[in-house]
Amino acid sequence: MKAKIAVLISGAGTNMAALVYASRMPECPFEVVLVTGDRPNATGLDLAEAEGVPVVRIPRPTPKDKSQFFAALELVIDQSGADYIVLAGFMRILPEEFVARWEGRILNIHPSLLPKYPGLDTHSRAIEAGDSHAGCTVHVVTAALDEGPILGQLAVAIATGETPETLAARVKLAEHQLYPRAVADYVSRWRDPAALLARVRALALALPETDERESHGSPGFRVGGDKTGKYFAYFADQHHGTPHIALLVRTGSMDELLALVEDQPEVYFKPAYYGASGWVGIILNRPGVDWDAVAAWLERSWRGAAPKRLTRLMDVADEF
Ligand code: GRF
Repeated sequence: MKAKIAVLISGAGTNMAALVYASRMPECPFEVVLVTGDRPNATGLDLAEAEGVPVVRIPRPTPKDKSQFFAALELVIDQSGADYIVLAGFMRILPEEFVARWEGRILNIHPSLLPKYPGLDTHSRAIEAGDSHAGCTVHVVTAALDEGPILGQLAVAIATGETPETLAARVKLAEHQLYPRAVADYVSRWRDPAALLARVRALALALPETDERESHGSPGFRVGGDKTGKYFAYFADQHHGTPHIALLVRTGSMDELLALVEDQPEVYFKPAYYGASGWVGIILNRPGVDWDAVAAWLERSWRGAAPKRLTRLMDVADEF
């Protein structure tokens, strides 16, 4: 399954184009489901349209109706089904609540080696400072401008006689290499079995008296000590012909298991062998996994397997 990205632009959209072409290379983990922005006449929108990418032209915001613009923007992004928002020369600052709702799912590219030169005119500032290199940075967008966690950078040498224009043109070449790669890596994080296992392991082993033991080649998590311990979870990496990397946990009954699978087939499946005894598979290799829900499943399954003395302790703790 590919991650769906919405690309927001204000101008030429050359980074947007780089993302669209990268998305058409074999095995690219993302697809561009929407190109939009704050300038309905941006040339980049015409290009996206010519390339057959869905485009929405939202009326240009005026100082008076800014909030209306951002509401419209978020609506079209929601309707596109995008998992991520990728800013590519989008010249507006997103409202704080907007960023909060999309926490960790908005990326930006900035034409400098951050933390140097946030904001505008980065190239002339780098030249004037006598820097040997300029460059570009891809980062996660947080409420503070140009300050989120850095995902990747590429340095570009500043040649003698360089002008802001010649430098900008070469930094863009670098941007076009960096951005698609950084987006691909970011949206693929949760396809990586090692990263998924690490996350599951941290949650499972945070529960009382747990240990990890391999079972039929899979990492399994048990509660209750070395001799009498019982399994409450397994990590299954594409077992028995499924494409899923999954966490297997115990449900209350076969009826519950079947209802889960029927209602949310994108989240749950009935695993081979374990399914017959009421274990459900929670699919982890998809964008937007709700890790709080995963933690809740682990706790519930742990409760089903833990000795009374431990669940009683947990109940007491829960009352506080
Ligand atoms: C790029 O230099 C990008 O780093 C900055 O805005 C510019 C957008 O250019 N945020 P384009 O529209 O992708 O050509």
